[in-house]
Amino acid sequence: MKVYIVGAGPGDPDLITVKGLTLLKEADVVLYTDSLVSEELVKRANPKAEVLQSSGMALEEMVELMSERVRQNKKVVRLHTGDPSVYGAIMEQIVLLKQAGIEVEIVPGVSSVFAAAAALGAELTIPELTQTLILTRAEGRTPVPEREKLRDLAAHHCTIALFLSATLTKKVVKELREAGWSDDTPVAVVQRASWPDQVIVRTTLKHLDEEMGRHGIRSHAMILAGWALDPRLHEKNEHRSKLYDKTFTHGYRKGVSAP
Ligand SMILES: C[S@@+](CC[C@H](N)C(=O)[O-])C[C@H]1O[C@@H](n2cnc3c(N)ncnc32)[C@H](O)[C@@H]1O
Repeated sequence: MKVYIVGAGPGDPDLITVKGLTLLKEADVVLYTDSLVSEELVKRANPKAEVLQSSGMALEEMVELMSERVRQNKKVVRLHTGDPSVYGAIMEQIVLLKQAGIEVEIVPGVSSVFAAAAALGAELTIPELTQTLILTRAEGRTPVPEREKLRDLAAHHCTIALFLSATLTKKVVKELREAGWSDDTPVAVVQRASWPDQVIVRTTLKHLDEEMGRHGIRSHAMILAGWALDPRLHEKNEHRSKLYDKTFTHGYRKGVSAP
């Protein structure tokens, strides 16, 4: 009596995990988030599987459907975009499924934040520049708790990844400025990371809002902000980790004295 909640990855159908793909191929029923999961991936399900889109369904309807099929001894895969644990609205499904006596197993996926970083060739945690990544969203119709306001989070001057914020860039810029971020802070936007029509925009805090308008980006975008996104890091040779420092000893390598 189990539903598998599977991370589909950011878009490229090859970015699902091996475990996720095996479950997808074995499933009798696939319920997927049609707005962001690739049809190419869904086509890899068993041709005999019942494949359903979730965008037109209410929570209760989805849970009722999944519970009913599980009770008929069918293998049910609920396919979510990216990694299900980030803005996946899975907890409300888990609660109702558990109330119906159905267990849930979650199979992680590649989140769009990491697909965006890959598209940019970025490391989000650059030694001695920033060692912290905050995943958050700007406040729009969905409220954000008072203690998590963007300007307060931004006081750390670390890398910030903004989901669900493409139409809120005026607010983003205002809050980051209030936190003391300079106008020249690098910002990179990746729309539809890993899809064939992926768009990359590299800009600065000052020009973020106008660049979003110029490129007509209003959805499916990951905004990454902070000095780890500085494109000049690709040429600089300043920030090195201790991990591969030959004078730094650790369990897998004895230190070598510096000349
Ligand atoms: C409901 S959230 C789901 C996030 C998903 N669980 C994840 O791990 O990527 C949808 C938001 O994720 C981001 N997103 C999802 N897929 C994306 C992609 N391929 N490229 C860029 N951003 C994406 C956008 O910010 C979008 O508004």
